[in-house]
Amino acid sequence: MTSSSARQKTLGDPALDDDGEAMVAVEQRNHRDIPETPYGVMAAKALNVYYGDFLAVRDVTLEFGHNEITALIGPSGCGKSTVIRCLNRMNDLVSSARVTGAVTYHGQNIYDRDVDPIEVRRRIGMVFQKPNPFPKSIYDNVAYGPRVTGMKTKNLDEVVEQALRGAALWDEVKDKLKQNAYGLSGGQQQRLCIARTIATQPDVLLMDEPCSALDPIATSRIEDLMMELRQQFTIIIVTHNMQQAARVSDRTAFFTAQADDTTGNRTGLLVEYDKTATIFSNPKDKRTEDYISGRFG
Ligand SMILES: Nc1ncnc2c1ncn2[C@@H]1O[C@H](COP(=O)(O)OP(=O)(O)OP(=O)(O)O)[C@@H](O)[C@H]1O
Ligand SMILES: [Mg+2]
Repeated sequence: MTSSSARQKTLGDPALDDDGEAMVAVEQRNHRDIPETPYGVMAAKALNVYYGDFLAVRDVTLEFGHNEITALIGPSGCGKSTVIRCLNRMNDLVSSARVTGAVTYHGQNIYDRDVDPIEVRRRIGMVFQKPNPFPKSIYDNVAYGPRVTGMKTKNLDEVVEQALRGAALWDEVKDKLKQNAYGLSGGQQQRLCIARTIATQPDVLLMDEPCSALDPIATSRIEDLMMELRQQFTIIIVTHNMQQAARVSDRTAFFTAQADDTTGNRTGLLVEYDKTATIFSNPKDKRTEDYISGRFG
């Protein structure tokens, strides 16, 4: 935004662009003070990600705040999923993927040789775009993580109940825990996947477009749930829904893709990272402004 101070908007208002047109109307349900700079649980440092020779994302440096929700937004192909997958070494599972730079978790580079990726994924859990419950009972879905990771629990029933309560699903499923998870609605399945993830007691939750397969009511439930989970977890969410980013997140990182002059390859980069209120009402970079006002992407 060029001369923005005169028309700073709060997030309840539709921001206006230079022509006086309404930008994306955003509502913030999330009024709370956060520090100017995040108290970082995790950070990406000079992160580059290649698929074979193709540089998909370059030079991403980003700090994720403790008990905050950070939204990653930007046009399709700018590398949001690539970045979020790096944060718990999910890209290890893509054979052509290569990561340089560092991702630190409580100061430790998770890409160090002696770090166990399974342990990384237990502490930094992930929820995917499409609900992906296992073809097992509701109970066994949630108990799966504690069982396979050999988590020491006195009472697995209690762990399952706590996780289902944490995911705001308990009341809907408490009488049918032995039924197959496929019998649940899409929104319930996604909350089950959240329960399955939090059952292993991670402290970071990564969510890659967790609501894109859900209707508005189920989406709203997941958003409410995220705001509750934030008290316990650090959450990083990729979303295409700018209202959602504005509603739930504390900070927003805007990415875009830029074509290389010689090869024409489009590489993702981080344009701007700030408090969500600032990104949506007073962005510093023209590219951010164009994107949030719907002129691009
Ligand atoms: N497994 C892969 N192998 C090769 N290239 C990939 C792979 N995954 C992603 N890419 C490429 O990396 C770039 C970034 O893709 P990515 O999926 O991270 O973007 P995105 O921002 O999540 O997009 P969308 O909003 O459509 O989900 C794209 O050019 C994409 O084609
Ligand atoms: Mg993606």
